[in-house]
Amino acid sequence: MTSKKIAIIGAGVMGKKHAQTIARHQQAELIAICDPFSDVLAQEYKVAHYQDLEQLFSHEKVDGVIIANPNRFHVSTAITCMQHGVACLLEKPLALDTNEALQLIVAQNKLNIPILVGHHRRHNKIIQQAKEIIDQGILGDINTFNVLWSVYKPDHYFDIEWHRKSGAGVLAINLVHDLDLMRYLNGEIESVQAMMGHKNRNLEVEDTISITLRFENGALATLLASDAAVSPWGWDQNTEENKTSFASSPDQNCYFISGSEGALSVPQLEYWNYPQNNEKSWSTTLVKNKIEPDKTEDVYISQLSHFIDVIDQKVQPISSAQDAIRNIQLLECIEKSARENRTIFIESLELERKSA
Ligand SMILES: NC(=O)c1ccc[n+]([C@@H]2O[C@H](COP(=O)([O-])OP(=O)(O)OC[C@H]3O[C@@H](n4cnc5c(N)ncnc54)[C@H](O)[C@@H]3O)[C@@H](O)[C@H]2O)c1
Repeated sequence: MTSKKIAIIGAGVMGKKHAQTIARHQQAELIAICDPFSDVLAQEYKVAHYQDLEQLFSHEKVDGVIIANPNRFHVSTAITCMQHGVACLLEKPLALDTNEALQLIVAQNKLNIPILVGHHRRHNKIIQQAKEIIDQGILGDINTFNVLWSVYKPDHYFDIEWHRKSGAGVLAINLVHDLDLMRYLNGEIESVQAMMGHKNRNLEVEDTISITLRFENGALATLLASDAAVSPWGWDQNTEENKTSFASSPDQNCYFISGSEGALSVPQLEYWNYPQNNEKSWSTTLVKNKIEPDKTEDVYISQLSHFIDVIDQKVQPISSAQDAIRNIQLLECIEKSARENRTIFIESLELERKSA
């Protein structure tokens, strides 16, 4: 198979991460970097540097782009790339808000070019294993879904001004990934109730949040998170997905899911059921089973392999624009719930092709 020619748009922290990933991937070749302010990454990888998209597309034949520029440029950049017929791996968030995301979806419906949104955790093999356990019905009908995310962001993190402002807190920066996985594993969310706390740092941005959610399938969920609390519970710490940025606590769990037939902890992938032919009762001792969590492949490599299949139209994106818009809508509803101190129901969105 010939390598796919990939250009990166936005050469900051994530652009660099994607460049490193492409360099390690057998079927991808980095051919250019587009960033109006920096050519450092292009020099490091000895590839062409362009300051804008028109220059990029007039000089290069590109199979796919990875868009890792600031959030406010995501929609306009993706539309321009689609107009040039180029498939996009678009970093999350899809857009700044639901309305802007809808504009992107309308454009995509017209142009018919694939977009994979960078909700990279969906590519983690442990999540695929957990999904298989759930989809096989080993837990029965899911009743409860508990998520914990509690870490201590160093005080200097808040020296950067936008980190202190609302919209840049635990919810939008960190929990968006957990919310995405909750939807991936257990379907769409119907309503939310949330409370935010600011007492630890006394900043405009929340440092602690509790969210109660009802899924469309009737399951209830809680998500409890703080970036001002010391604990070993959190996705990155427990899965070791991103060891270069986060310390590990690999013996702990951060998701606890239970249903009518059993329970599952993630990422340890321990699951419990009653022994066959025994009464289902709180007085019957549970059998504990375990699947070895698969940590063999880097999640960004898996994401890039999937993007290559998306470019070749072998698969539909695991995280499409039509799917990722629901994460944005969910964040808006959670913020609204905390602000107005009431339950918010998620409105249905008209995303069909006819809406174009
Ligand atoms: N998947 C994840 O877990 C994850 C983690 C961090 C960031 N992100 C997302 O990745 C994106 C980039 O974040 P980052 O932390 O790398 O930011 P960053 O500030 O480090 O880098 C952004 C880069 O974009 C460049 N840029 C600015 N305007 C541009 C334009 N019009 N066209 C092209 N490049 C432009 C800047 O010069 C900078 O080099 C954001 O959308 C962010 O939300 C995702």
